[in-house]
Amino acid sequence: MIRHRIRNLALVLVSLLCLAFTGGVVATLIVKPEAFRSAIGGPFALEDIEGRRITEADYRGRFMMLYFGYTYCPDVCPTRLQEMTLALEALEAEAPELAARITPVFVTVDPRRDTREALRAYAAHFHPRLEALRGSEAEVAEVVRSFQGYVNYVPQADGADYLVDHTAYVYLMGPDGAYLTHFTAFDDETEMTARLARLTD
Ligand code: NI
Repeated sequence: MIRHRIRNLALVLVSLLCLAFTGGVVATLIVKPEAFRSAIGGPFALEDIEGRRITEADYRGRFMMLYFGYTYCPDVCPTRLQEMTLALEALEAEAPELAARITPVFVTVDPRRDTREALRAYAAHFHPRLEALRGSEAEVAEVVRSFQGYVNYVPQADGADYLVDHTAYVYLMGPDGAYLTHFTAFDDETEMTARLARLTD
């Protein structure tokens, strides 16, 4: 009987510890912004349109404006990439030194169709410094996951083509590689420029 009670007490203690631990993790995420920051982004290895291996370390010392998308995207991607372009161009007129430190990056989530040549042709429509990156499907999926994003391949009725449902945030990473902020579909180029202009080291 006593042994039974001790075991029950032990179970209660374990449950309380679990609760405290879970609560602690949640509280840490809420209270400490750096805990949230470190949850977005991380190491990656992709290739650029020249076939060069590019990692997150290549962006140290620069701000990185990162967008996931694909060249076959019918509407959202061209709009977002155009907004990124306009925002950066406006900042170049306003604060050229700061603008020069911001690198716009496009990572395709559709590497099957987005070859290096397809990316090269597509990137030419946007900011001249836009860096288009690709990798294997597994590599791309891993990068998307590290940014807490999602990708979903949606087959179309005709069977010939497919759409890619994907995160449409523009992420802004600092010179140390840490997450700073992101822009949603509600932030147009004017809002982007205003927030970029406030960036400091
Ligand atoms: Ni898209």
